[in-house]
Amino acid sequence: MNELDKNPNYKILWNEAKKLFKESGFFSYGCYDETFCTIRVFETAKEIMKILKNKNFNEQVVLVASIFHDVGKAKININKVFNKNGEDKKGADAEWGKHSILSPIIARKILKKYKYSDEFIEKVCYLIKNHDNKNLKNKTLELKILQDADLVGDSGIVDIARNFANGGQFKRSILDNIKRIKKFGILRYGDYNINLDESKKLIKEKNELLINLINDLDKLSNSELED
Ligand SMILES: [Fe+2]
Repeated sequence: MNELDKNPNYKILWNEAKKLFKESGFFSYGCYDETFCTIRVFETAKEIMKILKNKNFNEQVVLVASIFHDVGKAKININKVFNKNGEDKKGADAEWGKHSILSPIIARKILKKYKYSDEFIEKVCYLIKNHDNKNLKNKTLELKILQDADLVGDSGIVDIARNFANGGQFKRSILDNIKRIKKFGILRYGDYNINLDESKKLIKEKNELLINLINDLDKLSNSELED
């Protein structure tokens, strides 16, 4: 480990990732805006680590991994993922899955350029490679934190915002949006995939807020003019 590993310049690294998301022409706006999602994962990882403060983990490794965990999405072929209505095409999962392989390749190149140590880079890349591997046995605490931050950061009110952004992107009516939120909103973020009790508490609070908002939206969509 060197001095830079202990005190990474997060902003410089983030600007590298953000540049790639912007260049992708897809991941810097709308529902799949990774320039927003990544910030949420970074900040949520900080939130979780603050609660876990006395446990043994490398904060810098987690935060750098959070910046790059999804950067490989910038290099997937989006035409293989969606049809024009925004529904997944056949084989979409395989194309999405490529990002976990591409992200560590990109991260390694950038971190080498800025002269982070090999040991640090390998630790970061292990987290990035496995960030979507929920069934991995013997996860490190750092990996548990990153996986949880990825789910918690995307839950609660953020889920409403993303659903509406998705509706705009794929030309859905607001009423259809509300129906979609009712159908998928909570299901995606049940606590069955969360690693740590501390994160479960966080997601529970965020989901309670989400349930209230969904109930309010449901009331707003009621009219005798519609079935
Ligand atoms: Fe991911």
